[in-house]
Amino acid sequence: MAPQVRIMAVDSFAGKLAVVTGGGSGMGRELVRQLAAQGCSVAACDLNGDAVAVTAATAWAAAPPGIQVTGHACDVSDEAQVLRFRDELLEQHASDHVDLVFSNAGIGGGESFVSSPREVWERTFAIDWCGVYYCARAFLPLLIASGDGVLVNTSSVNGFWASLGPGMPNTAYAAAKFAVRGFSEALIEDLRANAPQVRVAVVMPGHVGTDIIANSLRARGLPAPEQMSDAQVEELIPRDTQTQLIGAGLLAEGASAGDLRQLLVRGNADFRDKAPVSAAKAATVILDGVRSGSWRILVGEDAKMIDARVRAKPEAAYDYAELFSGLAAEPAAGTPEP
Ligand SMILES: NC(=O)c1ccc[n+]([C@@H]2O[C@H](COP(=O)([O-])OP(=O)(O)OC[C@H]3O[C@@H](n4cnc5c(N)ncnc54)[C@H](O)[C@@H]3O)[C@@H](O)[C@H]2O)c1
Repeated sequence: MAPQVRIMAVDSFAGKLAVVTGGGSGMGRELVRQLAAQGCSVAACDLNGDAVAVTAATAWAAAPPGIQVTGHACDVSDEAQVLRFRDELLEQHASDHVDLVFSNAGIGGGESFVSSPREVWERTFAIDWCGVYYCARAFLPLLIASGDGVLVNTSSVNGFWASLGPGMPNTAYAAAKFAVRGFSEALIEDLRANAPQVRVAVVMPGHVGTDIIANSLRARGLPAPEQMSDAQVEELIPRDTQTQLIGAGLLAEGASAGDLRQLLVRGNADFRDKAPVSAAKAATVILDGVRSGSWRILVGEDAKMIDARVRAKPEAAYDYAELFSGLAAEPAAGTPEP
């Protein structure tokens, strides 16, 4: 009989040491807060050192006594920085192992392989894939040393469906997120055979309300949308994209740079505030999944719905009318969560 994939549930996070990448915002910040509140020490890193310092300070202030929460500046797409983060946290937490690693840092970008700038495509892929890879390389020996380690890699709904819908390619992100899912699934058997004291889980969120749009621009060296110059917004939303937005009724004819800036500001706010699942709720789902021993953690009804449909009709995955036919009849899809 085939061995069970579901193994080693975690009774409690109390007394453990967790690593969280991308802890300065969104799901990463909420993971840090919730782990710390449950008595787990946490070392969090982020490209935005100030943001992760705030996360660490507030999570530590609200946590039970005896735990430590540290914040570290680190770009996970740079292996030397990941190794420095590892060394810093081992020293600051006076530890020779870590129990949990949440490889959560990620950005969007590089939508079109045809027309997006190559440097944006490669920056997105480097953070979303190489960041996960370098963290696995750096932290696997420390998870093995834990004797009961869990590696939690964040993929996406774009790790099983490589599109955002009609006219919305997402090539760099989807390629990286498929890689994260493939790597994580491949590790299941590898760890079972070669490091049975460690297990892996892959997280596949649907739409979660975070500032990922603004943070992704920041990771590319751009200011917040409100602070962008006219030249920056016009480069970010080039003429052909403007034409598509006008066609979709999202932008008026003859829109100015100011209109484009407002579109970006509103896009980020709407993505965060109109999502069916909050970052806090997503972090709870992720931690519940890890605790229960799941290796595959889907976040949100949208993720579950797309996963089910792609599996049921793989050939229709990019025939959107067919893939989503009868959707209105299914109340679960996209239903807002509390
Ligand atoms: N929000 C969603 O709808 C959604 C859906 C599916 C998957 N995801 C994935 O979930 C993860 C968390 O996303 P989020 O929505 O909470 O975004 P977020 O922007 O709120 O948080 C991500 C954090 O990662 C940090 N980061 C970016 N690049 C980094 C780098 N090179 N090194 C270290 N830190 C870096 C950012 O500064 C930010 O603080 C990402 O991997 C994302 O791709 C998000």
